[in-house]
Amino acid sequence: MSAATFSATLKTEPGYLDIAANAHGEEKAFLALRALERTVTNSPRLVEVGPGGGSAVAFLASQLAAGHHRDKDVHLTVVEAPGVVSVSLTSALEDFSRVGTCDLVTGFAQDLADVVGEPVDVVTASALMHEVYSYGDGYRGLHDMIRTIPAVLRPGGMFAYRDVYAVKAPSLHDRVVQTYSALAWVRFLRMFLPQYLREGTHPYHRSADLTVFRQDSRIVPAEELRDTTSALVSAPVGIFREIQRHYITLRDHLWRSGALGFVPYLEGPLASDWIDARHGHKRVHYALADTDWLPASQRAMLLAVSERYTDHYTVDGDIFDECTDIALSAFLDLAGRGDEACSEIWESWVTREGRETYAYMTLDVLLAAFAVSSTEARQGERTVLMPVTVADVIQRDRAYYNRYLRRNLPNPLKDAKQLVLFSNIPAGDSRSLGEGMRCLQQWCSKAALARVYSAINSGG
Ligand SMILES: C[S@@+](CC[C@H](N)C(=O)[O-])C[C@H]1O[C@@H](n2cnc3c(N)ncnc32)[C@H](O)[C@@H]1O
Repeated sequence: MSAATFSATLKTEPGYLDIAANAHGEEKAFLALRALERTVTNSPRLVEVGPGGGSAVAFLASQLAAGHHRDKDVHLTVVEAPGVVSVSLTSALEDFSRVGTCDLVTGFAQDLADVVGEPVDVVTASALMHEVYSYGDGYRGLHDMIRTIPAVLRPGGMFAYRDVYAVKAPSLHDRVVQTYSALAWVRFLRMFLPQYLREGTHPYHRSADLTVFRQDSRIVPAEELRDTTSALVSAPVGIFREIQRHYITLRDHLWRSGALGFVPYLEGPLASDWIDARHGHKRVHYALADTDWLPASQRAMLLAVSERYTDHYTVDGDIFDECTDIALSAFLDLAGRGDEACSEIWESWVTREGRETYAYMTLDVLLAAFAVSSTEARQGERTVLMPVTVADVIQRDRAYYNRYLRRNLPNPLKDAKQLVLFSNIPAGDSRSLGEGMRCLQQWCSKAALARVYSAINSGG
């Protein structure tokens, strides 16, 4: 892969990864730990690709320090894209070096076989593949990466995958209709979607993928959506998944930047002060930003419904989300009308995140793609990447986001993370292949199963 395809200016500014989301270390390391449990060698080699701020590394280190895998001498290699720097990753690697050995190398995921010299026991990657898709030549980059993994793993080794959950539909291209009536969402559609469809890396280029906007029963261009009435949108379901996902990342970006006038705690124990965790209802801890973004009336009302908590405030999460949407809506209005400060923040988000595609494959297509492309790896012994038990395919819902989405959209799509533990099964291991096929049957269509069967049995 050429260096130009992962732009160093987009995501690689020193320190970017230290301010971007670096939570959920437990979830990011979950399948890597499961893979280590299944590894029989006493000196397993583990590779993490795209470690970001190192939250998975830090969690692995904490688990080893707590005595898990005491009998094993774990060596960790982290592979980061050239030019990406993170202070918190350095600190996580220091933690890891107290319980195992580790090194940091630079290179691209698509060239993993060249970057990692010898076959290893476990490869793990969290939130990497949507970036490989978005910056690494779309599906070509994804399949190139999948083809390198079997060559990097020992036969029987494992690949721990974690990324954004797509949709429960046969295809991302299935057309559906959604209505947007909340003001912030209509403004977001107008600002976001035209640039995403024009400049983003995405698969929605067929005539049947056209997005059609209607207001008052008339077809209107996205750029001309009016604030005063609901928008009825007909489009592939994958586009709606992108709209939702990008709205959530913009909200996050604006909170962190202080542009809304208040900054919630998004990491650490105070970010999970649940009133009812199962239903995504939490108490939000926040501080006021050192800016005058928030109009005095909104500030006074927010404080009136909040409580003091040591050096900051807490408020019910549903109320906080309402306040956020009102402030976000005002922000979008100003950015859309060319306000200098708001436009600058909007552009910085669009540049960093706004062109990415998060949902590149449904689970059906993903499992089949791994199985088929892995048979095409350049290596001596043919192997196939498949989960071997139903428990190796996991979905972790984002209860707080889903609660918010349910309150704002008539037909929200589920927000979740998808985790899959793939085993690198030798083509001659008929028992494991059988287990893998039985497992794929749970999620794959008959057409996908036929493709997998054909790829494995066509000789490579
Ligand atoms: C969204 S961040 C995820 C970071 C971390 N794994 C997590 O889950 O928080 C994506 C990571 O992958 C890295 N990355 C993106 N494209 C890459 C590529 N083609 N090869 C190697 N690393 C890449 C980025 O630098 C970053 O560390």
